[in-house]
Amino acid sequence: MPMFDALKPQALDPIMAGFMAFAADPRPSKINLGVGMYYNEDGQIPVMNVVQAAEAAVMSGIKSWAYIQPDGLPALREATKRLVFGEALAAAEGGRICTVQTLGGTGALKLGADVIARVAPGSTVAMSRPTWGNHPSIFAGAGLTVTEYPYFDAATGGVDWAGMRDAVAAMAAGTVVLLHACCHNPTGADLTPENWAELAGLIKDRQLVPFLDMAYAGFAEGLDADSAPARLMLGLGVPVFLATSFSKSFALYAERVGALSIVAASPDQAKLVSDQMKVAIRVNYSTPPSHGALLVAEVLNNPGLRAQWEVELEEMRQRIKRMREGLVQRLSGNNKADFSRFVEQKGLFSYSGLSAAQMQRLQDEFGIYGVSDGRLCMSALTEASLDRVAEGIRAVI
Ligand code: LMR
Repeated sequence: MPMFDALKPQALDPIMAGFMAFAADPRPSKINLGVGMYYNEDGQIPVMNVVQAAEAAVMSGIKSWAYIQPDGLPALREATKRLVFGEALAAAEGGRICTVQTLGGTGALKLGADVIARVAPGSTVAMSRPTWGNHPSIFAGAGLTVTEYPYFDAATGGVDWAGMRDAVAAMAAGTVVLLHACCHNPTGADLTPENWAELAGLIKDRQLVPFLDMAYAGFAEGLDADSAPARLMLGLGVPVFLATSFSKSFALYAERVGALSIVAASPDQAKLVSDQMKVAIRVNYSTPPSHGALLVAEVLNNPGLRAQWEVELEEMRQRIKRMREGLVQRLSGNNKADFSRFVEQKGLFSYSGLSAAQMQRLQDEFGIYGVSDGRLCMSALTEASLDRVAEGIRAVI
């Protein structure tokens, strides 16, 4: 068939390739520190108790699985707006913010990219070096020009703030700046509140367009602190894009629940932006699924469930911190590499500094899967696996 005659093998991105290789690995002792998911102490990816409670309430009332509207469930959209921007700002500024339901955080990024391509074709999107492997593909795939700004300082394991600041200060007006709101993926290195404040000033001065990817709110310093960058951007007088994911914070990976918020200059402009979003949704997948969205909306809108969710999310955050500390403790005292940065870094991931060859050895000899760029998923560690992971890392360095 001529259509397929010239096809060559096409590799998946390293995260998904590793996810599939892990599934195919027959060794029962294998450990998956690749794709980002939260595991409990038993090594399971659990359904959160609060989600189970919400599901019981939601399913008992379900009478129909009719289509929902392209922009999603109103109850989810409004609750998301209040969650990410805070009650006060959402009440005061809500008319300027257009929030729609998306297919997870990835779907929010893709929708945002499509909207930018529709309203400002030829735009440039600047992203951190390094960034989540799917970011460049999504934005370039939508027809936008992708560039990078310096971000990670390998020497300190933190952010190269001076490098990033200088690059942002030199960007042309209208450049879209993709930012990880917290828990930078893949490095775990986050901007400080002072960095964010300075960055906001630059964005305003240069008339840039911030696009915040907020996939891990709640996992760095807690929900409010992690949402601060989104709230900061609201008053800058520039368009703001914000991708929210509920995959991690509700452990609803397979349900694909997320949202895209776009901040416009006025309620009238927000209505026009919302039309663009709905058209972009319609041509992609027409309308989103409702099951996962009903669960998230139920939790966020029910004060009792909302409080329970925050407690469970905080327990997850604390467990990841303990795993980071446990790994650093077990790796200390080697004279080859310093891993103390793992406790400074935030969220699910850390850049280990291990090379692709060392990561491959970890996989082949120890059955420990990370990502070839050296990223390790800290939230997949357990008390039971810490010793083995530390032993593997010590062996390959
Ligand atoms: C990750 O970075 O592992 C997650 O965001 C999952 C994914 O889709 O890559």
